[in-house]
Amino acid sequence: MTRILITGASGLLGINLALEAVAKYDVVGVVHNAEFRDLGFETIQADLLEPDAITAVLEQTKPDWVINCAALANLDTCERQPELARRLNAEMPGRLAAEAGKRKLRFMHISTDAVFDGSKGNYREEDSPSPINVYGRTKRLSELAAKSAHPGTIIVRPNFFGWSIAGNRSLAEFFYNNLVSGKPVQGFIDRLFCPILVNDLAAVLLDMLASNLRGIWHVAASDSLTKFEFGQAIAKRFGLDPDLIKSAATETNGGAPRSSNLTLKTSKIAKAIGRRMPTVADGIEKLFALHESGYRARLQSLAAVREAV
Ligand SMILES: NC(=O)c1ccc[n+]([C@@H]2O[C@H](COP(=O)([O-])OP(=O)(O)OC[C@H]3O[C@@H](n4cnc5c(N)ncnc54)[C@H](OP(=O)(O)O)[C@@H]3O)[C@@H](O)[C@H]2O)c1
Repeated sequence: MTRILITGASGLLGINLALEAVAKYDVVGVVHNAEFRDLGFETIQADLLEPDAITAVLEQTKPDWVINCAALANLDTCERQPELARRLNAEMPGRLAAEAGKRKLRFMHISTDAVFDGSKGNYREEDSPSPINVYGRTKRLSELAAKSAHPGTIIVRPNFFGWSIAGNRSLAEFFYNNLVSGKPVQGFIDRLFCPILVNDLAAVLLDMLASNLRGIWHVAASDSLTKFEFGQAIAKRFGLDPDLIKSAATETNGGAPRSSNLTLKTSKIAKAIGRRMPTVADGIEKLFALHESGYRARLQSLAAVREAV
């Protein structure tokens, strides 16, 4: 059975990807601070910034495929801690790619839509990146470092939402948590994006790894909307009050600059794997079904296990 090493396995993408993969593959997840028991797959604890950690993890776990989901993914934290962002988002993926290349492993690196400046939107893979914040710049550096260290690297630029262990990692959770508690929030009308449900993204990533793809790929929903519209759609599907979401223009309040239009064209990946990417509405429908089936509660119970260790 193919053995997959997933870094960032406690994060929003990592945990959902691991749970999607475990039905078909032998999965080992790297967690950093968190300690988990009984996730349904093997985990290993490592700080991938430690000098010998990458080699040790690869030697110990002996994977066939490596998917790098570890990152400093909060834009404002990256702006405040640019050196940590550079080491974790840019340098570490380059070193991981080099070690994976040396061992002839399939290597996938998760980048971001934020490598673009957002001035035009509908970005294709061949458009020139020009990031406007520390997060975007360090992720663009990671793409260059990974490709140069391991030319077979698959680089994925997504935007996604879903349920996380922490319960507060995605924009869907932000709207859901606040609206469920009756708290008013702002929804930005000047920020367009095309988020895919993280579980759908996970299935696409596994299909990509199983095929012979390499290079850069945009993997996102096939349509787009503003953050305000996204909040409204979440409210409506979950039977919450959409009037709690006030339309507003983006204010950065000293945080990272935000791009206005990060929509991505997904025709390249749709053609390569033979299916259209889902719409945002498809994703929200499935997010609701996951909630109703107890998936969200199951993920959050993993956090309780962590605290009990
Ligand atoms: N969220 C989005 O909408 C979005 C959009 C575009 C691209 N992305 C990209 O998608 C990827 C996954 O994002 P996410 O939202 O899932 O991130 P996340 O929830 O913040 O998870 C980040 C993961 O990185 C791990 N990590 C942090 N520092 C580490 C270290 N020193 N050593 C080892 N692991 C470390 C964390 O482990 P601990 O929790 O154990 O510390 C966590 O598992 C990232 O590359 C991000 O840039 C995200």
